[in-house]
Amino acid sequence: MRVIIVAVTFITFFVALGYAIPRHASCNLDWDVGVDCKTAGQKIVDQIKNWNNTECGTGEKCRYALISYDEQTLKGKHVTPVKHYVDDISMMFKASGSGCAIHGFSTSETWYAILDQSTNYCNLHNLITGSGLDQSPSFKETTSDAICTQYSSADCEKY
Ligand SMILES: *[C@@H]1O[C@H](CO)[C@@H](O)[C@H](O)[C@H]1NC(C)=O
Repeated sequence: MRVIIVAVTFITFFVALGYAIPRHASCNLDWDVGVDCKTAGQKIVDQIKNWNNTECGTGEKCRYALISYDEQTLKGKHVTPVKHYVDDISMMFKASGSGCAIHGFSTSETWYAILDQSTNYCNLHNLITGSGLDQSPSFKETTSDAICTQYSSADCEKY
């Protein structure tokens, strides 16, 4: 009996920490781009500034805000056009051969968000396509549904 109580306590603890599904809506991904980190970071910064507007058209390529960028870490925000949900974006840049390895993370500020129509994925993905870095030599994007909410059903032209 005691063993069961301990086990249940442990499971509850890990679930509370978020080690179970459904998780909070968020996206972790990795990009390998074929340009150096300085160039890559600047392109993403420029794209965020370029999309710092409220005219969204049909998609969500708008309402981005840059919070900070120091060539190693980038922090920003994205607000969804219709419901005005706020998502926090961060990226880490690390030199890798002649290119750059970028880790991207986006998470919804709304604590109860579980499904996000892939918004957190698109927050990140739209920046890489918008800046043209997905066209750089040996570009690679790595993620999965387990670490990026609704990744495989994403429609980034819409969300
Ligand atoms: C534009 O960026 C600023 C700060 O960088 C931010 O306060 C503002 O909300 C952004 N505007 C939009 C429409 O996202």
